Amino acid sequence: MSAFVYRDGVLHAEGVALDRLAEQVGTPFYCYSAGTLEARYDAYARGFAAAGVAALIAYGVKANDNLAVIATLARRGAGADTVSAGEIRRALAAGVAPERIVFSGVGKTRDELAFALSAGVGQINVESEAELGALTEVARRLGRVAPVALRVNPDVDAGTHDKIATGRKGDKFGVPLEDSAELYARMAATPGLAVRGLAMHIGSQLTDIAPFRVAFGRLAEAARSLVAQGQPVATLDFGGGLGVPYRDEAPPSHAAYAGAIAEAIRGLEVAVVVEPGRSLVGESGVLVMRVLYVKRSRGKTFVVVDAGMNDLLRPAMYDAWHGLRAVVEPSAGTGLEPVDVVGPICESSDVFARSRPLPPMAEGQLLVIDGAGAYGRVMASCYNGRLLVPEVMVRGTRSDIVRRRPTFEESIALEAMPSWLAAADARGAA
Ligand code: LLP
Repeated sequence: MSAFVYRDGVLHAEGVALDRLAEQVGTPFYCYSAGTLEARYDAYARGFAAAGVAALIAYGVKANDNLAVIATLARRGAGADTVSAGEIRRALAAGVAPERIVFSGVGKTRDELAFALSAGVGQINVESEAELGALTEVARRLGRVAPVALRVNPDVDAGTHDKIATGRKGDKFGVPLEDSAELYARMAATPGLAVRGLAMHIGSQLTDIAPFRVAFGRLAEAARSLVAQGQPVATLDFGGGLGVPYRDEAPPSHAAYAGAIAEAIRGLEVAVVVEPGRSLVGESGVLVMRVLYVKRSRGKTFVVVDAGMNDLLRPAMYDAWHGLRAVVEPSAGTGLEPVDVVGPICESSDVFARSRPLPPMAEGQLLVIDGAGAYGRVMASCYNGRLLVPEVMVRGTRSDIVRRRPTFEESIALEAMPSWLAAADARGAA
């Protein structure tokens, strides 16, 4: 059951009324439910237990890198899948043990590789021959052994939005399956590398099990063939997790996902890693915002809210559909009117919903955007001179700010005038 439900006519996050929270925190802000994060983690853990697979559930931190979110999942048993030194630092700061951290990504710098090795991360997923060269060099320089997995590109169309498909042959990720055996053998023979296994990722927001099955099968097949050639394959990393229901999607169950992995690895002696992001955090968060104006123009109604595409980019970037609800529950039988819900940003793409049937809206009214826990705040920017919005986590009747709103002074203090302008200013002042 969702943690964001109406009680006595007011939308709550667990036991906390969102209208009260909005008064305390100010809008817009993200609100997360700790109970939902835990429930989503437990659903994966149960799925794998039922399938008889011991898996490291390495939370894909990119979906939401707030320390409180990572820590909540880590306490439950999650590791972390990271794609930058920044994410590794965040995972460590949130209490994830280094050996439970996976370092993925197509463009790791030498500095990041060195940081990862020094921190003792458990697995580095290498995506190209060139990167392998860099890692070997860095490992040698540091006198460390690098635990590596090779990310392959299984050439599977995940059937998701073009911008979030990653496993087709034209995508920049991974090495082609047909090149993997040669590269793997070279990795295994390179001093300073401890070769662990293979990794993959075919895309995000998958709502069908079929592409998962095909890709999992190809990964396991590649592993079998390596083993047959006498190569050590201790780990298989199956990449990201399930899609979430934003509208009427019906993603596969955790049992089906874990079952597909169990089936793929039958007969192989491997440790399993998965990197779910969205499905652990997506439904755990809402973006709370306030209606600034209701603008009627040429027969259309625009509801102008105080959150914008800089705060939640998904609708503008991927035409993503997100649910919208009024915080004060509309009374039964209230008529609906199709409206465009738009933000304040000076771009025509700053639209959260088009022709969405909603109850009548009034200035000052609070709204939430559902399903905003994943790829929400992490993709936010300061466009149009705005500040990143705060984040709140709720547990039962308790709520805490887990990222405060910065001040404009802090934001401006990061910048400096170039010397020539500063000199001119000084002259002007003199
Ligand atoms: N592992 C790797 C290597 C990935 O590239 C990703 C996501 C994940 C794991 C996590 O996948 P998930 O379980 O969340 O599906 N910003 C986009 C999503 C981009 C996903 C990129 N990679 C969005 O808002 O839809």
